[in-house]
Amino acid sequence: MPYSISVNRHMRQADVEADTPLLWVLRDTLGLTGTKFGCGAGLCGACTVQLDGQVARSCTVPISAVGAARVATIEALSPDRSHRLQQAWIAEQVPQCGYCQSGMLMAADALLKATPQPSDADIDAAMTNLCRCGTYNRVRRAIKRAAG
Ligand code: FES
Repeated sequence: MPYSISVNRHMRQADVEADTPLLWVLRDTLGLTGTKFGCGAGLCGACTVQLDGQVARSCTVPISAVGAARVATIEALSPDRSHRLQQAWIAEQVPQCGYCQSGMLMAADALLKATPQPSDADIDAAMTNLCRCGTYNRVRRAIKRAAG
């Protein structure tokens, strides 16, 4: 069935089954491979995108549930790495293997939009993504650096 969704400020079409997870529409249909597959069960956060500015785990969102929500993926942050979070991530040398970092960045971006000066508790509450390399302390420092 054809679906029309807003992704990174562009209307995009996907002819897929209604229960196809948004993650696979982004990756396989639209070629936006910055969003990663980890657990497929809503647990790890590797697939984190934003729906109308709210974090969403795209592996658990069927395409039929997206509707008119505006989808934002890691590709929307900044192609030239000039976004304040990207600069902070580079300065703090956050990534190790890097696999989870696009989801981390999308969660951090949503956090800073909602809470421009987050406390440690705010960061811990918002950043529930898992990182097998244990970059959590660097993620926290980078969010604080980006917050200024
Ligand atoms: Fe979606 Fe893990 S792949 S939460």
